Amino acid sequence: MIIYFSGTGNSLAIAQQIASATGERVMPLTEAVRKDLTGERRIGLVYPSYDFNAPPAVRNLVPRLKLDKQAYVFIVIPCGAQAGNSIWTVRRMLREKGIETSYSHKIRVPDNSAIVFGRNPNDQVWKFARFAKRLKTITADVQAERHAHHFAWFSPLAWVMGTERMQAWMIRTFRPAVNEKKCTGCGICARVCPMRNIGVDEKAGIGPHCTACLACLHACPHQAIEAGGKATVKERQYRHPNIKLKDLTLR
Ligand SMILES: Cc1cc2nc3c(=O)[nH]c(=O)nc-3n(C[C@H](O)[C@H](O)[C@H](O)COP(=O)(O)O)c2cc1C
Repeated sequence: MIIYFSGTGNSLAIAQQIASATGERVMPLTEAVRKDLTGERRIGLVYPSYDFNAPPAVRNLVPRLKLDKQAYVFIVIPCGAQAGNSIWTVRRMLREKGIETSYSHKIRVPDNSAIVFGRNPNDQVWKFARFAKRLKTITADVQAERHAHHFAWFSPLAWVMGTERMQAWMIRTFRPAVNEKKCTGCGICARVCPMRNIGVDEKAGIGPHCTACLACLHACPHQAIEAGGKATVKERQYRHPNIKLKDLTLR
């Protein structure tokens, strides 16, 4: 079983590729917390790095997973540049549940948060050249159930920037807002929100459980979702090239 949390498809694409090679199933984290997974012998966790740490949604939900203590557990982090404490935090949470993580790795991908600063994540598709090679290695390692951890144990920047307090501040900055003048109430944002945190009446409304994954902002066909006070430009909206909008839609 490969459990993923994904706003713009990078994590989902990784989860799917490893799953197709290993014969595992993929499942969104929000669904996995409602299941008893103690029968699963191999468990993967694939989620992005947010502000040098695991996303708040991941930190809140991982402790609630029902997993087999003997399972082979691996973590893969797609990140724009720096995974920081994203792996370490979740390893610690699993250890508190009596579960040891066997394998972890990070992999560089286009940074979906670049749009908040007016930069284009699609300009970073060059990262996919190394992505393919790294993902092949990770897939082979997982298939062989290797035990290894490939991440920096200590990054001073992550220990300053990746604190929960700093992350909460950053996420308030990244948190998207609906531009009511542009919103048509089509509901696409509500369908892709991995937190099921968007309600649509005549217009979309973002609820209190936003984790700033930017799924809504990148998926909106009317560029009606904005973050950091900036209008969204269509050309800068990003989704992993192998992932379709319907793949991100929760059942
Ligand atoms: C709120 C937020 C914070 C982020 N912080 C970081 C970060 O600290 N380091 C990094 O390398 N990438 C960062 N990113 C980029 C994401 O980790 C990256 O785009 C990831 O692949 C997104 O995965 P997804 O497509 O599955 O949602 C951040 C993205 C968001 C939305």
